[in-house]
Amino acid sequence: MKAILCTHFGKSDELELADIPEPQAGAGEAVVQVKAAALNFFDTLIIAGKYQHKPPFPFSPAAEFAGVVERVGAGVTDIGPGDRVMGYMGFGAARECVAIAAQQLIKLPEKLDFDHAAGLTVIYGTTLYALRERAQLRAGETLAVLGASGGTGLATIELGKMMGARVVACASSDEKLAFARAHGADETINYATEDLREALRRVGGEHGIDVVYDPVGGAYAEPALRSLAWQGRYLVVGFAAGEIPKIPLNLVLLRGCDIRGVFWGSWTKREPLAQRAIMTDIARWCAEGKLSAHVHAHYPLAEIATALKAITDRQVMGKIVLRP
Ligand SMILES: NC(=O)c1ccc[n+]([C@@H]2O[C@H](COP(=O)([O-])OP(=O)(O)OC[C@H]3O[C@@H](n4cnc5c(N)ncnc54)[C@H](OP(=O)(O)O)[C@@H]3O)[C@@H](O)[C@H]2O)c1
Repeated sequence: MKAILCTHFGKSDELELADIPEPQAGAGEAVVQVKAAALNFFDTLIIAGKYQHKPPFPFSPAAEFAGVVERVGAGVTDIGPGDRVMGYMGFGAARECVAIAAQQLIKLPEKLDFDHAAGLTVIYGTTLYALRERAQLRAGETLAVLGASGGTGLATIELGKMMGARVVACASSDEKLAFARAHGADETINYATEDLREALRRVGGEHGIDVVYDPVGGAYAEPALRSLAWQGRYLVVGFAAGEIPKIPLNLVLLRGCDIRGVFWGSWTKREPLAQRAIMTDIARWCAEGKLSAHVHAHYPLAEIATALKAITDRQVMGKIVLRP
């Protein structure tokens, strides 16, 4: 079968398209024919050796996928050949077939197609965990999201609206903000042309912003934190801008606010049943049209370098999907 292999840390155009043997289904495992594998920002880091987890070589990028079960190993009873499923595996999905613990798979609702299902787990799983468990977001609160048209940004707009928040989308171009508004954002801020602190003061009013969701970091973090309301919550999600911000702690004292870390991958290991429950909800909401899982573009495996470049060039709105 065909697989994208990372044989050394480097650039996306150093990835190889190789022929490797098909996997076997061990006890408790299923072999799934991958119909769509979704890419995330962290795939650009993992192949460069800049991610917190460094898999042994050779490995395939792509953490999540959707496809059809081909065969199952001993002891697997609740899933079988022909089932349409989605799954999360951290890395390894950019290939035609994967072997994975059957417990990690979620059956797809009838109306959910492979392209949309492939990209659901990371962005919506992270964001539902972040908004519900870490921020304890309440209906009527104001939620500001940076990088609002990216994967986690889009998930924040949609889940924030479902939870009854007023959502302020912040992004670097008017095209991205139009996309954010089309997906439910109430207010928009172009932080490439407006001063973020001033703009958040304008939309937050005297009360301020209750929750900031930050997957970008860099120079935007401090002005966003300065806009928080009394007892506001600042969610540290990621550092797509590259720079890890340093925050003066007096700002936290003066606002009586919280900076809360979001480490979804670690939470899924600690709370696998809770993660499974939220993914079942997310798949159903997407099938019902409540979540878009918008696919910006899809590429064949051989064009993975172009796909990853679109992510690092900040061109993507929503998700990028590979079709093996
Ligand atoms: N904590 C967790 O558990 C968790 C889970 C999933 C993802 N993450 C992290 O969250 C971050 C965002 O992930 P994502 O999937 O939403 O990524 P994405 O779809 O690529 O979106 C990232 C957004 O960041 C902004 N950005 C600013 N500077 C950038 C740069 N130099 N390069 C690329 N983008 C830049 C872009 O928006 P503008 O152009 O509008 O600024 C872009 O839309 C990543 O760091 C990822 O590792 C963390």
